[in-house]
Amino acid sequence: MKRIGVLTSGGDNPGLNPCIRAVVRMGLHLGLEVMGIHRGYAGLIDGEIDEMDARSVGGIIGRGGTILGTARCPEFYDLQGRKEALRTLNRFGIEGLVAIGGNGSLSGALELHRMGFPTIGIPSTIDNDVNGTNISIGVDTALNTILDAIDKIKDTASSHNRAFLIETMGRDSGYLALVSGITGGAELVLIPEEKTVIDDVCQTIEDAYIRGKTHCIIIVAEGWGPGTQELANQLQERQNELGFSVRVTQLGHVQRGGSPSAFDRLLATRLGAAAARELIAGNEGHMVGWVQNDVRLTPLAEAIAFDKQIDRDLCELARVMEK
Ligand code: F6P
Repeated sequence: MKRIGVLTSGGDNPGLNPCIRAVVRMGLHLGLEVMGIHRGYAGLIDGEIDEMDARSVGGIIGRGGTILGTARCPEFYDLQGRKEALRTLNRFGIEGLVAIGGNGSLSGALELHRMGFPTIGIPSTIDNDVNGTNISIGVDTALNTILDAIDKIKDTASSHNRAFLIETMGRDSGYLALVSGITGGAELVLIPEEKTVIDDVCQTIEDAYIRGKTHCIIIVAEGWGPGTQELANQLQERQNELGFSVRVTQLGHVQRGGSPSAFDRLLATRLGAAAARELIAGNEGHMVGWVQNDVRLTPLAEAIAFDKQIDRDLCELARVMEK
């Protein structure tokens, strides 16, 4: 293998740039030519590709976002789109591909592998819902961003004696909500993996008020049903009996930006470098993950077979700490 390509795809997150940098620099170190593919699979179909050198990834280790750009690409779900992508790869003489992203991006890499093209995946999504890795790139920085917000909201919540619903991202995964709730000292965490009825939420708020707390912080994962807005409406109707009045903060895309943490920079560097090495070693069709403090290969088919399950011990721990 002489020339490889690298792309970032799906929702961005802090950690993509250090990961691109590691793929490029390890690739060059191994004597490969490395091509940067812009806008994920969309740019692969359209042939938006440039050669990268050590300098083209200079100064990016601390930058959020992705210098290659990213996109969600519905065309890639069609065979026709994937055939187009293969034509582009051949046209540019690319013999192997490193795909950095979440479940959708890794599924794309698997499809190309099944069509006979050597690919390797790197898990990178704030949702932390990819199997075969304890943690995905971007999660740690997103958690720190959420914690910063929780600390600030607590200041204003305490000053006004209010309850706050803070909505975190994560799609169908409650990981960000659960871990930020535990580490941010929330009174309650609501995640899609656990059923909570609104009456129980009311009880938590009322208890906090009766115990003389100055605020009540509830972290709500975006995938939790009945949903943050419905909960807010019901709490607002009952705020006289609850004691606290209620406000809502939806953190949104702020969780996807910012300078990557030291943990994410190191994880991205380790996994990016490992991906380049494993691709030329012939371990295509795999994802490089971080398991028990080491790089571990998992077949892409296993990594994306189902969403990673929430850690039940952490759920238990949250219940004990929510006092
Ligand atoms: O997968 C990452 C993620 O940020 C999810 O947590 C969220 O549900 C989704 O992407 C939002 O996607 P978009 O940026 O396309 O609105």
